[in-house]
Amino acid sequence: MTPAWWSDAVVYEIYVRSFADSDGDGVGDLPGIRSRLGYLRELGVDAIWLTPFYPSPGADHGYDVADYTDVDALFGTLEDFDALVGDAHELGLRVVIDVVPNHTSSEHEWFRNALSDPSHPDRGRYMFRPGRDGGPPNGWTSAFGGSAWELDERSGEYYLHMFAPDQPDLDWHNETVQRDFEQVLRFWLDRGVDGFRIDVAQALFKDQSLAEMQEPDPPTWHADWVTAVNQPELHPLYRRWRRLADDYPGERMFVGEIMLDDQEAVAEYVRPDELQLAFNFALLWDEWDATAIRVTIDRTRTAMGAVGAVPTWVLENHDVMRVATRYGGREQGRRHARAAALLFLALPGTAFLYQGQELGLEEVDLPDELRQDPLFVRTGGERKGRDGCRIPIPWTRAGQHFGFTTGEPWLPMPDDWGLESVEAQSEDSASTLELYRSALARRPGGDFEWLESPPGTLVFRRDDVVCLVNVDAPNLDLPEGDVIVASESVTDRLSAGAAAWVRPRTL
Ligand code: NOJ
Repeated sequence: MTPAWWSDAVVYEIYVRSFADSDGDGVGDLPGIRSRLGYLRELGVDAIWLTPFYPSPGADHGYDVADYTDVDALFGTLEDFDALVGDAHELGLRVVIDVVPNHTSSEHEWFRNALSDPSHPDRGRYMFRPGRDGGPPNGWTSAFGGSAWELDERSGEYYLHMFAPDQPDLDWHNETVQRDFEQVLRFWLDRGVDGFRIDVAQALFKDQSLAEMQEPDPPTWHADWVTAVNQPELHPLYRRWRRLADDYPGERMFVGEIMLDDQEAVAEYVRPDELQLAFNFALLWDEWDATAIRVTIDRTRTAMGAVGAVPTWVLENHDVMRVATRYGGREQGRRHARAAALLFLALPGTAFLYQGQELGLEEVDLPDELRQDPLFVRTGGERKGRDGCRIPIPWTRAGQHFGFTTGEPWLPMPDDWGLESVEAQSEDSASTLELYRSALARRPGGDFEWLESPPGTLVFRRDDVVCLVNVDAPNLDLPEGDVIVASESVTDRLSAGAAAWVRPRTL
């Protein structure tokens, strides 16, 4: 049996607001994406994942959905969506969309009904609870800072929001919520989508006892400590979703955003009859350190292998600092990011590539007054937020806003952004874009095996290709053979911070 398309795919994440703007309003949109599909085909990815494009007040830039079965006018129309899917399929690109089931927008009709009348049936879709000792029902905190409870002054009850107050959490113990979401999935499956990325997939059901949680100090990135979520009820739900999608022709896929560090806990969601994939965020938390990276690769492969699931690899997404900046920025960070590209694209499984990663873009440091992320606003600036990795893509070397928009971009683009543009990098065979193009065209497959190598290096084999990464050793000798791709020009050895794929003369 041929493996399913998603089992070794490269999925390109499109942050819709920042990819390509077709109508000059400064915000990326669906027709803009459609006009750039040729670029993605040529880059060599297999699928695109679109961040939310649904009607939304934009309190969390689309992750606050006011209508799950339509397109926000800012991004286009349902017809634009259909045309985009049609063109993508014609080019052989699959289309994955974001589904945001943990919370709605406070502007969603269900929530407006819930607020307008405490006896309205829609009230039961949300987590309204009485307060305690003159304050919120418990001490749960929001991922965006402050209490996770907001007072509904009219009724005197509080409602739960694990993110911003404009993102009230749904109560997944409510059967109407469960039923309605199946309709949402069907709506998009009927329109031909190839899969869903499930937002905050581990958090839909909450511990109904509202038991307090011990928060780590200092806080960690991942949410393993959030004992109120990751509840057992999720598994039967995802089994139902899986059956629903499997009833459709083609191989429709789910990838869960499961923000847990413990790969064994993540693996429970990708057992054979549950979700096909779960993001593996472990590489986002690793420093440029050979031992740490090797441990991550082994833990992931072991945990996923134990349930027969495909591992996934993520170096960037729209929520984290760009990888070149995480690895120290400038010349060195960029070199490490290029080497990491060859590492992650050679690992067995599915790779998720975030727009601009293929250009080696760095995090942009914005002045505070221009920051838009609710994370920045709600933590009073204590956390800078995620705007710096969401700057619009530079397409052209020069010209108005580097080909992104003819209007004013929703986040400002640095003056020298044109140097990083697709156009500039396409003319330079040593660019990061050209490195990605070469690597994507030559991605190795087959069995994985670690090969012996000196400390500070990572060397493994995929069939007849050896991937060598010199993380921080003085030098790493290359085997004799053909260099397929290298992160920089190499002779017979890799210096620290470089990587290569080699087909050795003898294995
Ligand atoms: C995860 C999304 O990736 C992030 O951008 C969003 O803010 C939260 N979920 C809440 O929906």
